[in-house]
Amino acid sequence: MDTVSIVNQKGGVGKTTTTICLAAALSKLGYATLVVDLDPQMNGTKWMLGRELEEDEASVLDAIITAGDQDQSSSDWPLARLIEPSDLGFDFVPAHADLANVEGEIGEKPSRPYLLRERVKEVEEKHQFGYLDEVDAHNASDGAYDVCLVDCPPSLGLLVVQALTASDGLIVPVSVDGMSMQGLSQLVSTTREVRKYLNESVEIIGLLPNNLDYRAGLVNEGLEALRKNYGDLVLDTEVPWRSKIIEASTYGTTLYDHAPSSDALEIYENLAQEVVSRTSVTETGKAQSSVQQ
Ligand SMILES: Nc1ncnc2c1ncn2[C@@H]1O[C@H](COP(=O)(O)OP(=O)(O)OP(=O)(O)O)[C@@H](O)[C@H]1O
Ligand SMILES: [Mg+2]
Repeated sequence: MDTVSIVNQKGGVGKTTTTICLAAALSKLGYATLVVDLDPQMNGTKWMLGRELEEDEASVLDAIITAGDQDQSSSDWPLARLIEPSDLGFDFVPAHADLANVEGEIGEKPSRPYLLRERVKEVEEKHQFGYLDEVDAHNASDGAYDVCLVDCPPSLGLLVVQALTASDGLIVPVSVDGMSMQGLSQLVSTTREVRKYLNESVEIIGLLPNNLDYRAGLVNEGLEALRKNYGDLVLDTEVPWRSKIIEASTYGTTLYDHAPSSDALEIYENLAQEVVSRTSVTETGKAQSSVQQ
């Protein structure tokens, strides 16, 4: 299973949109996909669950705060136990608003940046758990996932460090204006630091130009500047502005259900292919075809 975080410390650039639309496309193409919502805003959770998470419901937060504590077996929350099926063709682990409070706490011990990574690794080693039956009922056959997408909050804080430490690759959605591009060098250098000290294998898969309105003159200039500055790091796929994407998120559904004739479907499938070609994602978990077709 490859873990791919969708990251950009700038808000509103399309991290959650990319996560969900890419997950739907990967599932459609046959890759068993798990989404982890790591953002206390819970936008992805609302999209996938169709409602807000209740205060007392379990979330990825439980997995993080109970990770690595050997003596806590009675209240242990491995990620596998938190996986929910969605009607969208893939499975997910919900976020919780209280994730916002743990940014400081989880950094206290030196081993803390690895908590999410440990939990993600456990999903791969699923046979060690007693939760296999629950997982079997979901969209991955035998609970085996080909890819895990992590929707990150708009920060470069410790939650994002957890995500980068757990990841094989990063996708960075960018909206092509001067302001958005300013933060990219900071993100690239944070990634470099994580690679040096925490996770030598994390790579930026690519920058994804998103929400493009080609009628606006500055967009083409911005794209040119992005490709000039970042070269091959910019994905070939570009996602245009599409009202159907906003509607799909509002209705808590996918483009496959909401707008099957939208050109955005093909664009996200191209993105999925490009991500697969730039990573080692392979199709083994076999997403259930009934949901996909
Ligand atoms: N390609 C697109 N076409 C139309 N609307 C889009 C597109 N991409 C994103 N949006 C819209 O832009 C807004 C912000 O997108 P999204 O929530 O995915 O960003 P984000 O980076 O996850 O934000 P945050 O940093 O707050 O988590 C949403 O209303 C979303 O529907
Ligand atoms: Mg978001």
